[in-house]
Amino acid sequence: MFSSDLFLNKIVIVTGGRSGIGFSISKLFLKLGAKVIIASRSESQIKKAVKELSSYGKSYGHQCDIRDLESLNKFSDWLKNKFKMVDVLINNAGGQFPSTVKTMSPKGWNAVINNNLNGTFNMCHTIGNNFFIPQKKGVIINITANISRGFPGMSHTGAARAGVENLTKSLAQEWAEYKIRVNTVAPGTITTVGLESYPEEIRKLLKASEQKNLMKRFGNPDDVAFAVAFLASPMSDYISGVTLPVDGLEHLAGDRMELYNTLKKYNFK
Ligand SMILES: NC(=O)c1ccc[n+]([C@@H]2O[C@H](COP(=O)([O-])OP(=O)(O)OC[C@H]3O[C@@H](n4cnc5c(N)ncnc54)[C@H](OP(=O)(O)O)[C@@H]3O)[C@@H](O)[C@H]2O)c1
Repeated sequence: MFSSDLFLNKIVIVTGGRSGIGFSISKLFLKLGAKVIIASRSESQIKKAVKELSSYGKSYGHQCDIRDLESLNKFSDWLKNKFKMVDVLINNAGGQFPSTVKTMSPKGWNAVINNNLNGTFNMCHTIGNNFFIPQKKGVIINITANISRGFPGMSHTGAARAGVENLTKSLAQEWAEYKIRVNTVAPGTITTVGLESYPEEIRKLLKASEQKNLMKRFGNPDDVAFAVAFLASPMSDYISGVTLPVDGLEHLAGDRMELYNTLKKYNFK
């Protein structure tokens, strides 16, 4: 669908690129000629993924924790030594757990805000200041979620992702003078191994709700990857500060209380 040299020799960072949506994004950028660096916490999983990704192109891995500034500075130094510059940053790393507000501990709330909101800020700040601003060019794509009608049952990630979407608007304006574009892709429910980590009752709920989607399917990681590639490419050169839902209409239609009601029914803590 895209020209195979669309990102030829571009340096592309994908946080959380070792699994799920991030893995598909990495694969697509490799197929389109980029040099892709996947970055996350688990060194062994990174190694495994880099090996698999190598059949699609030049892939690299580096351990980093987006919550930890020291680890990000080390990552940034490594990037500087190895590549000198960075073209695209895809902030895909993140995670959350189902919980009602009533039963959520402040510790759980803070953990998700720290990972999904502060972690994204940390990456933008580190790569922006060390590469994109001095280079006077760069593209940032943040991955959030379907949060436009709130996120009952996962309020922490709803709040964190809303923060990222607003950060996208601020950064896009502040950094336009450096020719840096900043956009967000908001996936709906995407079938990945990430979903398999949820408790059985929620997996059952997901199975049933797939047929209620107006397009009669959940998304797949490639649906997200194609949107990210478009927003990272020169085809979207005049687009910045927006959030693009990739969700088969979930942001408009569907029962937002389903997850919350399931959590209440099974009395999840
Ligand atoms: N699947 C969906 O339906 C869906 C829908 C909307 C949004 N999303 C979001 O899209 C992103 C990818 O989702 P997915 O389904 O592909 O999930 P996934 O397979 O669980 O991927 C999450 C990735 O993030 C990395 N990560 C988590 N915390 C990190 C940290 N502190 N520092 C560095 N890396 C970290 C993990 O690697 P390590 O364990 O090695 O650190 C992992 O590779 C996530 O942010 C997710 O919340 C998913």
